[in-house]
Amino acid sequence: MTNALPTSSIIGVIGAGTMGAGIAQVAAQAGHPVLLFDAWDGAAQKGKDGVAKALSRLVEKGKMAQADRDALLNRITVIATLADLAPAKLVVEAIVERLDVKQTVFGEVEAAVADDAILASNTSSLSLTAIGATLKRPQNLVGMHFFNPAPLMALVEVISGVATAPTVAETVYATAKAWGKVPVHAASTPGFIVNRVARPYYAEALRVTQEGAADPATIDAVLTECGGFRMGPFDLMDLIGHDVNYAVTNSVFDAYYKDKRFLPSLVQKDLVDAGWLGRKSGRGFYDYAEGAAKPAPATAVPAFAPASVEVHGETPLDGRITTSGMTVSRADEGEYEDGVIVVDGVVLVPSDGRMATEIAAEEMLTDVVVYDLALDYGTAKRIAIAAADQASPNAVQAATGFFQALGFAVSVIDDVPGLIVTRTVAMLANEAADAVYQRVATAGDVDLAMTKGVNYPRGPLAWAEDVGLDRVLDILENLFDTIKEDRFRPSVLLRRKVLGGGSFHA
Ligand code: NAI
Repeated sequence: MTNALPTSSIIGVIGAGTMGAGIAQVAAQAGHPVLLFDAWDGAAQKGKDGVAKALSRLVEKGKMAQADRDALLNRITVIATLADLAPAKLVVEAIVERLDVKQTVFGEVEAAVADDAILASNTSSLSLTAIGATLKRPQNLVGMHFFNPAPLMALVEVISGVATAPTVAETVYATAKAWGKVPVHAASTPGFIVNRVARPYYAEALRVTQEGAADPATIDAVLTECGGFRMGPFDLMDLIGHDVNYAVTNSVFDAYYKDKRFLPSLVQKDLVDAGWLGRKSGRGFYDYAEGAAKPAPATAVPAFAPASVEVHGETPLDGRITTSGMTVSRADEGEYEDGVIVVDGVVLVPSDGRMATEIAAEEMLTDVVVYDLALDYGTAKRIAIAAADQASPNAVQAATGFFQALGFAVSVIDDVPGLIVTRTVAMLANEAADAVYQRVATAGDVDLAMTKGVNYPRGPLAWAEDVGLDRVLDILENLFDTIKEDRFRPSVLLRRKVLGGGSFHA
């Protein structure tokens, strides 16, 4: 077990902007003396002043004692040159995201500090291997990727380039933990863990809206109220800024030699071209002008509860059907597969990645309605459904009435493969599986990164295990067969786990 740096170790921070100031605060809060440097006159002091202000607010709210605030600030010293970093044991860099500039700065830092000092970069997209290439001691360089805002977000991705010494990564991991953070190890690959595995969260939503199956407000509502995500993808992209989010997608896409899995979206490019960058520009997918109303999600008007409900085998809605008090008949062995519910003759099936239209054609049915995956069917407030093209108009009414009787708000969307939550979760799990397969990180660390770095309600791999890995593989294969695009190809590791009967977390 490698030890964390003792709190007596001096920590250097270069760049006192959004991230650097926050990182200085985190290190000082843990008890370290901190040296803060910025290239622009007055910027380091401004960064420290920002920390002082943030801490004062904590004191006002009674969340921090005045004496602790003052002591913390006293531990942060603004320095004027990189040479002043000489006594630092760990130097965290959070400057402009440019390889040449980072290489130059680390070259100067390396000349100033002791031979065993650790150099860490907060880069969110550059290769640690490439940053280290021009250093004399690349084994001392590691990624220490904090999330914004650094004092609040728990995750720290500890990134190893090809030359990074394992003991250096372990020391930074242990130190981040001692600072109250949740560290994970990752190999220096494009997007590391979070910025890679999160791509489908945006991509699937953009794709569904591009195909006109549902509008942004509906997709956001389904992913939050049914999928359990804290923020819908369109809300989140508007918050992050489309310029930033689109640039990250492009950089991951380019870095993976234009693997279609990471294909950027024309819908988002349009927003960037228009200067509709999201909240910061007053307009993105949504309008943030004063008095502008947020569009409401598509929600079906009340429909009659069905007269007959026939449940075949076990279904994910069983708990809710029981508490609803609805009269149902149970047919454990019959003409339909386990999990099918027939309401007034309309066949309801949980999405398996096929369109309802395909299911109807393949199973020689007409009135077929598919419904979406929920994080928890017992508590979900909303559900997305889609009817087959062959279905009669009555089919949507019957399905809507049924879900409303169970207490769901119903969003009727177009018959898109995998609806919204189903395809999003399957694609997130697929990307997570590929990251594990390619030895970017362990399954446990991938799940931890996604719950702590972007607040997903569950790690994608644990979620997939919960849904059933065979079912997730089925969904992906159906998406792949239906859409016929390489980006839906199932991860080899997922297939292996299904065939071998293993799990990701065993
Ligand atoms: P920022 O623009 O808020 O701050 C950068 C600071 O670095 C500025 O104060 C600037 O004066 C200073 N600086 C620029 N060149 C310098 C140099 N050669 N020497 C010393 N100081 C220099 O940028 P931000 O957002 O804090 O990002 C910094 C780094 O952190 C980037 O590598 C970025 O990719 C990464 N990052 C950013 C996140 C974010 O959400 N903003 C999240 C995680 C990582």
